[in-house]
Amino acid sequence: MNRSKTFFSESGVAGFTHRAFTRSMGYDDEEMARPVIGICNTYSELNNCHQHFRELCEAVKRGVLEAGGLPLEFPTISLGEIFLNPTSMLYRNLAAMDTEEMIRAQPIDGVVLLTGCDKTTPAALMGAASADLPAILVGGGPMLNGHFRGQILGACTDCRRLTAEYRAGTLDEATYREIEDGIVRSPGHCMVMGTASTMNTLAEALGMALPNNGAIPAVDARRLRLATAAGRRIVHLAREGIRPSQIMTPEAFHNAIVVLNALGGSTNAVVHLPAIARRLGIELPLERFDQISRRTPVIANVRPIGRYQMEDLYYAGGTAALIKELLPLLHGDAPTVTGRTLAENVQQATVQDADIIRPLDNPLQPEGGIAVLRGNLAPDGAIIKQGAASPHLLQHRGRAVVFRGMDDLRARLDDPNLDVKPDDVLVLQNVGPVGGPGMPEVGNFSIPAKLLREGVRDMVRISDARMSGTAFGTIVLHVAPESAVGGPLALVQDGDEIELDVPNRRLILHVDPAELERRRAAWQPPRPAFRRGYGWLYLQHVLQAPQGCDFDFLAGSDPVTAQEQPK
Ligand code: FES
Ligand code: MG
Repeated sequence: MNRSKTFFSESGVAGFTHRAFTRSMGYDDEEMARPVIGICNTYSELNNCHQHFRELCEAVKRGVLEAGGLPLEFPTISLGEIFLNPTSMLYRNLAAMDTEEMIRAQPIDGVVLLTGCDKTTPAALMGAASADLPAILVGGGPMLNGHFRGQILGACTDCRRLTAEYRAGTLDEATYREIEDGIVRSPGHCMVMGTASTMNTLAEALGMALPNNGAIPAVDARRLRLATAAGRRIVHLAREGIRPSQIMTPEAFHNAIVVLNALGGSTNAVVHLPAIARRLGIELPLERFDQISRRTPVIANVRPIGRYQMEDLYYAGGTAALIKELLPLLHGDAPTVTGRTLAENVQQATVQDADIIRPLDNPLQPEGGIAVLRGNLAPDGAIIKQGAASPHLLQHRGRAVVFRGMDDLRARLDDPNLDVKPDDVLVLQNVGPVGGPGMPEVGNFSIPAKLLREGVRDMVRISDARMSGTAFGTIVLHVAPESAVGGPLALVQDGDEIELDVPNRRLILHVDPAELERRRAAWQPPRPAFRRGYGWLYLQHVLQAPQGCDFDFLAGSDPVTAQEQPK
């Protein structure tokens, strides 16, 4: 890649200004002759997970300088899960566009992507895939374990579990508030196997990040050393012109789906991986996830499916040791950003605790975590994280109790007069990509308070929403097409019978087709959530969950060239 060389050596006023204005920052000819490495920093004070990114960025810069590059940091929008309304997912594509366009517009020869919190990693990989400039991803790392009175706590699996206890009256207000003090106690992203831990590990499985990117805690010095090593490495990738499209191949996506299942990872990856792949012209149909899930055991004993957390997984050998254990199921010869293959990257890794990283012949669960369902209620598919579901509900028939959207849910869920029994099926409509808007993480909505007080802790819940990777329960998600665009989910009414059959991958609405046609004729789409601005653009162009919720016009890539320069 010689984009910076072209930029600095242009004739006439263009080259003159490029050099003169760069000199204003204190750089001289010797530095301008080096490969220019952009560091895409998603630091923000409205993103707790990235609070350490200034230091992380300095560590990357040191590595770039050591390898003879010129590091130049630039900002892109930061998606902090906790601070964004209505949901961070609404902005993932905006972040991907920001990343792609800034890579494209600036005279850089390679880019280091600093990511962490849930949507930042897929957004960065989507943007980098479409720009196809040499790139390497550095995650911020997971938080340390939470603590409370001798118990290890995890954000946010335990946020949900303890809130359910509080609502059920088994945890008092004072204790509930006291737990806030110690559950989230360091920089970094959520330390259970949520979306952030999942996606930062999948970046490693895809070959786009260094070994143990997924596992090293945010505050561990080895995270800084990984960042410095990545800084050194990107200079070589830029010199050699090795692009993301050469790393993120169909084999790499196979590897990522195997690792996703072995992690018992977040269901959000079933949206993000197809979105990244589409940027590279690779289709990942939902059935691919199901096929791989059926032959991949869960070997990471990490919450919400398992017992431990990312910090423990790191001390047990890390994501590198986990990938090594999975090699019989992986394309070990896939190239990676290290310049070595995936198998070579993890050669030295060893499992230190076989209860946390299980051997393939003694897994936590024999099948992967994620099953794909089809049926007349989800003609284009739906998913369930069966590993985090209640075994007795995996084959279940029940009466539908329907909520028309989030406002209806909030108004009636805890109504003592709500007609609901423990073996009913709770249905939530209008929370998909368009209806949400932004497909919020509300699929794991709470059980009615009166049933919680009776001791019920799980029920079948069905929606077109997503759920947090840290959540658990018998929860059917991503129903496609979604209800707001007229999918069959929109036609479900109170009292209908619904059948969930996970072993046979079925989701059936037992209502007469003629009756469904009658309801369809009477159906009215909900009012659009936005009339202008980015929200309007989003509603016009967002695809359904099986296509990754990307915008239709963002498919594919448009690789940058050495000649393409801003004027
Ligand atoms: Fe950022 Fe959980 S809030 S990963
Ligand atoms: Mg999350």
